Amino acid sequence: MEQTFAVKLEEKRYTPDPRCRAAARVPDYAQAYSEFMRDPEGFWDRIARELAWFRPWDRVREWNYPYARWFVDAKLNITYNCLDRHAAGERKDKPAIVWRGEDGAERTFTYEDLYREVMRFANGLKALGVGKGDRVCIYMPLVPEQVVAMLACARIGAVHSVVFGGFGAGALAMRINDAGAKILVTADVGYRRGKTVPLREIATEALASAPSVKRVVVLRRESRGPDLDPAREVDYMALTAEAAPDCPAEVMDAEDPLFILYTSGSTGAPKGIVHTCAGYMVGTYYTTKCVFDVRESDVFWCTADPGWITGHSYIVYGPLAVGTTVVIAEGTPDYPDPGAYWRLVQDLGVTIFYTAPTAIRMFMRYGDEWPAKYNLSTLRVLGSVGEPLNPEAFEWYYHRIGGGRCPVVDTWWQTETGMHMVTTMVGEAMKPGFAGKPIPGAVVDVVDRMGNPVPPGTGGFLVIREPWPAMLRTVHGNDERYRTYWETIPGCYTAGDLAVKDEEGYIMVIGRADDLIVVAGHNIGTAEVESALVSHEAVAEAAVIGKPDALKGNVIKAFVTLRVGANPGDDLAEELARHVKKNLGPVAVPAEIEYMDRLPKTRSGKIMRRVLKARELGMDPGDISTLEE
Ligand code: WTA
Repeated sequence: MEQTFAVKLEEKRYTPDPRCRAAARVPDYAQAYSEFMRDPEGFWDRIARELAWFRPWDRVREWNYPYARWFVDAKLNITYNCLDRHAAGERKDKPAIVWRGEDGAERTFTYEDLYREVMRFANGLKALGVGKGDRVCIYMPLVPEQVVAMLACARIGAVHSVVFGGFGAGALAMRINDAGAKILVTADVGYRRGKTVPLREIATEALASAPSVKRVVVLRRESRGPDLDPAREVDYMALTAEAAPDCPAEVMDAEDPLFILYTSGSTGAPKGIVHTCAGYMVGTYYTTKCVFDVRESDVFWCTADPGWITGHSYIVYGPLAVGTTVVIAEGTPDYPDPGAYWRLVQDLGVTIFYTAPTAIRMFMRYGDEWPAKYNLSTLRVLGSVGEPLNPEAFEWYYHRIGGGRCPVVDTWWQTETGMHMVTTMVGEAMKPGFAGKPIPGAVVDVVDRMGNPVPPGTGGFLVIREPWPAMLRTVHGNDERYRTYWETIPGCYTAGDLAVKDEEGYIMVIGRADDLIVVAGHNIGTAEVESALVSHEAVAEAAVIGKPDALKGNVIKAFVTLRVGANPGDDLAEELARHVKKNLGPVAVPAEIEYMDRLPKTRSGKIMRRVLKARELGMDPGDISTLEE
């Protein structure tokens, strides 16, 4: 985007019952925000004191632009707060995780159970030679053991890198190599729509080009599970059965890394976003408690996979630090039928429900009769994340799912931010189409290229002006890429999103400003898909754009030029789709592939995706003075 632009803003608003506002954890947003602004360090200091520490901090924050340290010199272990604290107290017998399998199987872990499981697996990892600072890659289906594996790493100070179980072998290998993981934790299979996903097979293929991995832990779910390769593979159950039951929490420094999580980059390879222990813990704890307004009796269901940041922050660390009951379910929203989610809400008495706009739009398409069949009266707070919640989807969610009773918190944040940054806090007036305002604790603005705030109604770049506790600390192995976030617009962290504010300061997020495509809430880098296409022998060059889609937000359209001798046609298009799927996984597969004689390029040889996009969408391509001819 070269300039700012005007945006027409909707006027509609929903003002909650004053009782809802009075009862909220943050009953007066404006007051809480100004208290935060008056004394940011005091604000975070008070929140951090609600948690347990092995040693307190000397200073809340140290800001050496663009590097921040939070809770300086404090010692802690995040799992002590997620597990020990509850298992030793009144939440001992409270369900921590309630898991539902696709076939309806159910498993419940109390806080005491989870604590024991995590310690056993942590000892298992130690027995395999894993220690503080070692990287462990977790490539699993959505089962309790996925969460256990994450917590077990954190318990012993190993750095986890969770790779979503929907990724293909190429994406997995790249992530293992970049992180230098020495252990891989996987499962024989995942289940999806009644079929099995052969995770171990995919992992084995990935390991052929990922030599850093020395041992593989395999969770065997199928009764006729695979024979393991004794030289490399270990059975998950055998490993934990042999392990000692007690594993004290490793004493971690506030700034020790907690995990690496890969997110798509616009310039090629995915970026390994690094989060550290203390700030991430405090940020996710606070936002879970205050944005979702969590109470002791809540049953919290975030429908994400722990393999995404949403799962890290709002399935695992935030909710467990707060001590709530977390529901996890393996399966898709419309399998075996489009009532699957609502049945689960009814069966388990879910009170807080957090999902993505793409799922909401899918439910809208299936019709009102599906949610109407179930008792959804336990729901109290609804959340949305991953892409803009368009006004139509907001209305449907608010009325059909929330019965017009439940606040909808549309939370804007990123893998990089680690925690929520913008939303409409429970009790505040909601405006469909707008995520809301910066939460107390975040300083967010919409600015021009120079960092000057743009007037209301004018689009600009979404930026964060001050460091925050759960911010990324670096990009693994590429600190320069980290600095770019803070150096693109002077004095600010640039999120890469376009946004607009209204007169009251509500922020509407419009979409990505860079070469990322958000498909069904998943960030896909154009470069990643292009390089997967080009890795096929028939393809010479590829350019990929996002095309608006009523259901998925965006779908991928690929333009390819072929090598001489290759035959354009449907067979090849199908083969290319399979090729991308194998490399990157199903979310990255182009919905459309178009053959071209050549791609529009700049004189310096950069593919001009916006020209393709403009043509595709019938828009003005903007400045094309740099076009090749
Ligand atoms: C988009 C997911 C509008 C945005 C937590 C952001 C959103 C990217 C919202 C980060 C929202 C996320 N409204 N857009 N409420 N939430 N996004 O790293 O473009 O997977 O930059 O983190 O998703 O995606 P990521």
